[in-house]
Amino acid sequence: MDRTSVSSKGGASTLENVDEWKWKLHMLLRNDNEQEIMSREKKDRRDFDQLAQLADRMGLHSRQYSRIIVFSKVPLPNYRSDLDDKRPQREVSIPSGLQREVDALLADYLARKRTDSGNFPNAAFSRSSSTDSFATDESFYEQQDNQTSTNVVMERIQRRKSLQLRNQQAAWQESNDGQSMMEFRRSLPAQKERQSLLEAISQNQVVVVSGETGCGKTTQLPQYILESEIEAARGATCSIICTQPRRISAISVSERVAAERGEKIGESVGYKVRLEGMRGRDTRLLFCTTGVLLRRLLVDRSLKGVTHVIVDEIHERGMNEDFLLIVLKDLLPRRPELRLVLMSATLNAEMFSSYFGGAPMIHIPGFTYPVRSRFLEDILEVTGHRLTPYNQIDDYGQEKSWKMQKQALRKRKSQIASVVEDAVKAADLRDYSPQTRDSLSCWNPDSIGFNLIENVLCHICQKERDGAVLVFMTGWDDINTLKDQLQSNPLLGDPSKVLLLACHGSMASSEQKLIFDKPEPGVRKIVLATNLAETSITINDVVFVVDCGKAKETSYDALNNTPCLLPTWISKASARQRRGRAGRVQSGECFHLYPQCVYNVFADYQLPELLRTPLQSLCLQIKSLRLGSISEFLSRALQSPESLSVQNAIEYLKVIGAFDQNEELTVLGKHLSMLPVEPKLGKMLIFGAIFNCLDPILTIVAGLSVRDPFMTPFDKKDLAESAKLQFSCRDYSDHLAIVRAYDGWRDAERDRNGYDYCWRNFLSAQTLKALDSLRRQFLFLLKDTGLIDENMTTCNKWSRDENLVRAIICAGLYPGVSSVVNKEKSVSLKTMEDGQVMLYSSSVNGKEAKIPFPWLVFNEKVKVNSVFLRDSTAISDSILLLFGGNIQQGGLVSSFALLI
Ligand SMILES: Nc1ncnc2c1ncn2[C@@H]1O[C@H](COP(=O)(O)OP(=O)(O)OP(=O)(O)O)[C@@H](O)[C@H]1O
Ligand SMILES: [Mg+2]
Repeated sequence: MDRTSVSSKGGASTLENVDEWKWKLHMLLRNDNEQEIMSREKKDRRDFDQLAQLADRMGLHSRQYSRIIVFSKVPLPNYRSDLDDKRPQREVSIPSGLQREVDALLADYLARKRTDSGNFPNAAFSRSSSTDSFATDESFYEQQDNQTSTNVVMERIQRRKSLQLRNQQAAWQESNDGQSMMEFRRSLPAQKERQSLLEAISQNQVVVVSGETGCGKTTQLPQYILESEIEAARGATCSIICTQPRRISAISVSERVAAERGEKIGESVGYKVRLEGMRGRDTRLLFCTTGVLLRRLLVDRSLKGVTHVIVDEIHERGMNEDFLLIVLKDLLPRRPELRLVLMSATLNAEMFSSYFGGAPMIHIPGFTYPVRSRFLEDILEVTGHRLTPYNQIDDYGQEKSWKMQKQALRKRKSQIASVVEDAVKAADLRDYSPQTRDSLSCWNPDSIGFNLIENVLCHICQKERDGAVLVFMTGWDDINTLKDQLQSNPLLGDPSKVLLLACHGSMASSEQKLIFDKPEPGVRKIVLATNLAETSITINDVVFVVDCGKAKETSYDALNNTPCLLPTWISKASARQRRGRAGRVQSGECFHLYPQCVYNVFADYQLPELLRTPLQSLCLQIKSLRLGSISEFLSRALQSPESLSVQNAIEYLKVIGAFDQNEELTVLGKHLSMLPVEPKLGKMLIFGAIFNCLDPILTIVAGLSVRDPFMTPFDKKDLAESAKLQFSCRDYSDHLAIVRAYDGWRDAERDRNGYDYCWRNFLSAQTLKALDSLRRQFLFLLKDTGLIDENMTTCNKWSRDENLVRAIICAGLYPGVSSVVNKEKSVSLKTMEDGQVMLYSSSVNGKEAKIPFPWLVFNEKVKVNSVFLRDSTAISDSILLLFGGNIQQGGLVSSFALLI
């Protein structure tokens, strides 16, 4: 890349300067050999705004990096390490003797324990346990073996079973309870289409079904198929799989369907989600997460024994759903009798239909119960609430988050789609009172609106009829903070009047289920939830929905190679889904906390996940399934991800050694593709096994795959953080702290003291249990792939060697490295991609005034307003040199070379 530094005499007026730059930028555009031009001049910094506008008009990109301004033909990242004079420079040398010793030890190890690179049978999966989105387990296969058996005796048993199922079904339908259930089911809009749906499914391999939320897609359609198969005496041979995007919906929907059939869960209807399942030998209709089905497809490419696959909520466009569609599309010609039904709550069925060669579309008309929508202007009019510039700042309580929030407001201003602002300006509000118009002119689109929500909830409790309220928030933070705020309200905080509940993705299924319970008479239930509650689930008594209009969605900033978690506006489809939650069992009301004109400019649908996430695991899976070139496979998706994102993922996999230079799986890559965890965690496991320090590594990897076992209750944050610090023992590692916490818990459990231990140390017993079970599953997987043998003492020979454990953490987390420079009062951290980064206050390193190590490796960085490292472990130079990336003669390769 050629770069030209421009220097000119200072002092010229802005006008002259801009003129001069017009010429320089023209020259840049005309010169094919130059990509960018930069300046360190003071006057150019002074005029940067004008120059940036000029560059923009000429189709160039511009950015200021501290004292340097850059104009470029290609987009510029947030941070350029080459332009950072303050980047820490270090010179490290390894004594050649040490290097030789390491080489010899490695060679010796490899000679003794060479794993056969050709020996990666797919069967390895079949015994794998359910540990991530792709998970499945042994029992998933049992049934299909029985079903496909051509054994005559088997056939006879099946015929008998089919008849038995038919009798059972008829008996239920004729019973009193069954009659009233049938009556309810007949009232759903889907019922009118029952016959045409069943006909279309029997006559076509693929059918796309759409229908408004609540019309009966999820609970009815799979049931119609099951019922008609049972009526046709094919009950014992049919096997229907219906996928759900989330665990909570798979579980709650299967329970509902079982209840509608007068059965217990696990009889003819069951579910299977990661780590949990309820299914019996006779389960014919299985609700599972999309990931579970995908995982099965990896080992059972033709889905033997399965008669119907129903993919629900396709409009959500999660990564797993999109991937599943590519694989299913490929499978259909090989399984002509297999039926595929795609279900969507929205009307964009055409895209899916044309993807499957013009598959017929059936729309289920009609709503279950009407829901009245009120937008912000109507809400202000009805409640009389006033918006001012001062009462819309969401108070997160602590000084720090308060400050962050304020900064975020300023920074994010530019990110808020200007269309929203224009829409508000252009809105016609003539019919509203002056007070409402005044309020709207002060409306701050960046805030979630805690005060407004409190006000709306009070209004509902005082003025509206009975019924539970579901409030859609963006994440754990605001749910907790709002809950605190509401609890101190005299009305909403009175437990004899209001039952306040929260529902969030990181809560255990058993906790999440509380939201379905009925409150005492006279008590109003208010559920604060994330978009988790947006699809598929029915909370029976919800009559009111409050929609803040935003969701925290993981998006992926490909240019800066950083995942972001920012609240963004939801789509029209999501807003409709949220509203639909209110009209499930009676008519409802929805309070949208944004003006109608803003709703009008929402995108129709959310951007598919494939287009906004890093694609590493996906790339590994594509390769291990031998689906050809990654970019070619992804180009067959409904919508393909940006090639830069794909390239980043491929590069990452090369850096960590999973792909060779030709993008083919290395031995490490093959092992990684079989481990149902992120590649970096898989690598850590494999290295932990190879280097015989497995026990702590199992804990760390399990800890990083489930949620953090350390809890920080809002009102006891300081106590919780100091409890965590005890586990760090000043060794500057969040990961080693998890190991100690877990080991302590395991000892306490042995003495039957587990709960007490958790309570005292602010640990989540639930999470530790999940962690424990994941550890066991990882161990099983590693045995399965032949990386460890039965003798557990060998693989734990070095488990107490803290430096080795640090090294293995580094091997897994590299290239997640940040340099550490201890300043007088603070610690300055920089990564190659982001420059300055910060630590979360919950990290044990976040509290340290000095970190006596030159580097931190981290698992997760998140861009909120600045880039934050969530967890970290301090490491030495030699660890980084030996375990971070490749060292080659003549220098260092990969980004590590640039770091030192
Ligand atoms: N757990 C439940 N308790 C009571 N009624 C329920 C329950 N689950 C569903 N229903 C009723 O069945 C109807 C259909 O629900 P279903 O989940 O099949 O709708 P859907 O079309 O899949 O909607 P969505 O777009 O929200 O997924 C609901 O509107 C509600 O009236
Ligand atoms: Mg549904």
